[in-house]
Amino acid sequence: MSKKLVKEVKGSFKEQFKTKPLMVFSPGRINLIGEHTDYNDGFAFPAAINKGIVLAISKSELSVSKAYALNNEELCEFNIENPKPLEDGGWRNYVLGVVAELQKLGKEVGNFNSVFAGNIPVGAGLSSSAALENSFAFALNKLFELGLTKNEMILISQKAEHNYAGVKCGIMDQYASMFGVKKSALLLDCRTVESQPYKIDFKEYKLMLINSNVKHDLSESAYNERREVCEKVSRLLQIDALRDASKEDLDKIKEEITEEEFQKALYVIQENKRVKLFSEAIQENDINTLGKLLYQSHEGLSTKYKVSCEELDFLVDSAKENSNILGARMMGGGFGGCTINLILKRDFKRFEKEVLDSFQKKFGKSCAVFKVKLSKGTRIVP
Ligand code: GLA
Repeated sequence: MSKKLVKEVKGSFKEQFKTKPLMVFSPGRINLIGEHTDYNDGFAFPAAINKGIVLAISKSELSVSKAYALNNEELCEFNIENPKPLEDGGWRNYVLGVVAELQKLGKEVGNFNSVFAGNIPVGAGLSSSAALENSFAFALNKLFELGLTKNEMILISQKAEHNYAGVKCGIMDQYASMFGVKKSALLLDCRTVESQPYKIDFKEYKLMLINSNVKHDLSESAYNERREVCEKVSRLLQIDALRDASKEDLDKIKEEITEEEFQKALYVIQENKRVKLFSEAIQENDINTLGKLLYQSHEGLSTKYKVSCEELDFLVDSAKENSNILGARMMGGGFGGCTINLILKRDFKRFEKEVLDSFQKKFGKSCAVFKVKLSKGTRIVP
């Protein structure tokens, strides 16, 4: 968490609202492996990071509520009674969505003033939206003593995303952001919504994130379409979710679905298995296997599930050419955002320069390299 960001948000809040706020930090997340498995009741392996959203908030005596996005210097004033999603609302819909979903549960939210800012690049696949939703759910719960558990809060955040941002996401992002554990990744069972923390130490290797700086406009609808395919296949198999399916099951309904649908469902089944193998390899300190699983995951995401793009494929191919990188894959929903790479620590700087140059040459635009620390979840800033 950045102290500078906390200071800026607090400063802006005090200047505008002349009172002392409650301060909350809510992190973004990475995901080691297990992509598009969450809404299939499957497994994922995310971790909260040291970057995210800082929120300053207090109750207000006025009859409107205010949310100020410091990064873009945009103010949203709204009536707390049953707020509706805005067309092209962007960040506003996450805030309105959380307020509305709290009210749907019969929780009484009063008017508030708030300022927030973040240091996760938007669209990088690091879940800035889940961080924002969680920051408000957590802060409003505290401020108005709503008595919600963290599990209830993340479901509210998820519903805000479904109903106000229109993305039928799973629970991984909100879970990781809320429940993150320092220096650990969480082996998350998305059916029971419970996780087990794994201490992460890749020895002489570390994680490198490379942001393709690409965000496709249609990524939301493409995401929802994928989810529909998974649900259709589950219905045909008469199971609750693809977590319960095997390749053999899929073969039995091959005639009833298209080849594309078959490949997508197969990807989910295989990715789910990879998460289990990944967690075992961590326990056995088998770093080479971790790398192989990352490459396999990318292959599936790119050729079967079809959520990669040219820039991400290029970044993963560049990693493959470097024997100091054990594995790499696109991360998050896809169609842009970051790749996650497992790279030898002492080659980090050199490869960073190399990939920045080659990406620029190939696409005539820049990518960005960064590192993250695995950190604690949503919390009050002292
Ligand atoms: C997005 C969604 C998550 C998850 C990932 C893909 O980040 O919000 O719920 O489905 O994509 O793994």
